[in-house]
Amino acid sequence: MKTLNKTLLAALLAIVTAGLFIVASQAMGSDDEEDGGTIVFTKPVKAVIFEHSIHVEMGMDCDSCHDDPFEMAAGTAEENDDFNMKALYEGKYCGMCHDGETAFASNTNCTACHIGVKGYNRMMGTKEKKGHGSGHH
Ligand code: HEC
Ligand code: HEC
Ligand code: HEC
Repeated sequence: MKTLNKTLLAALLAIVTAGLFIVASQAMGSDDEEDGGTIVFTKPVKAVIFEHSIHVEMGMDCDSCHDDPFEMAAGTAEENDDFNMKALYEGKYCGMCHDGETAFASNTNCTACHIGVKGYNRMMGTKEKKGHGSGHH
């Protein structure tokens, strides 16, 4: 009985440890550099958020977005004059899916994508700024 309890305890410990490990790696998932992490667009308006983790965990392949419509380099789309709502409504960029069919439409849920200046400051206060090092304004 005593040895059984020990075995049981060891097994339980192993399960709990494995569980914690999974939780920890999921929590870190949003900062995963490999999948591009969290992108914050600042042009033409501050601030629009794109989370790789949310999209990739739904089962999307990298090539559903790369290299069309997006390059694997933060700050690329922002350089285009047509990176705006009109283009999204026409099915470009995020609007390729955010059309009310594949995903919620771009003319709804503004604040899901637009975290605003307050959200931006909150984010940059706690998280390292990613991929926008060029700093021209
Ligand atoms: C739903 C669309 C979408 C999917 C799916 C997606 N990405 Fe991205 N990715 C983006 C967007 C948007 C950007 C930013 C592009 C820009 O700013 O022009 C980006 C940027 C990147 C960057 C550059 C990050 C940086 O800081 O410069 C990398 C690397 C990247 N993606 C890798 C991946 C990989 C690997 C996968 C698959 C596991 C993937 N992406 C899946 C949309 C996507
Ligand atoms: C290849 C298709 C695809 C592209 C491109 C895409 N998304 Fe999505 N996105 C989805 C799907 C599918 C969902 C989940 C379904 C839904 O929420 O309607 C989603 C969900 C989201 C959500 C909600 C996340 C949450 O909290 O649940 C946000 C915000 C978002 N996308 C922003 C963006 C932005 C910003 C871009 C462009 C930079 C973009 N997406 C490009 C397919 C896409
Ligand atoms: C699916 C994500 C998404 C949704 C939903 C969304 N936007 Fe945008 N929005 C973007 C992206 C991406 C840009 C271009 C990048 C930037 O300006 O930072 C942008 C840019 C803009 C701009 C500046 C460019 C322009 O077209 O004038 C305005 C204003 C704007 N959005 C307003 C809105 C309003 C209002 C809503 C809700 C009715 C909305 N957005 C919903 C992603 C989204």
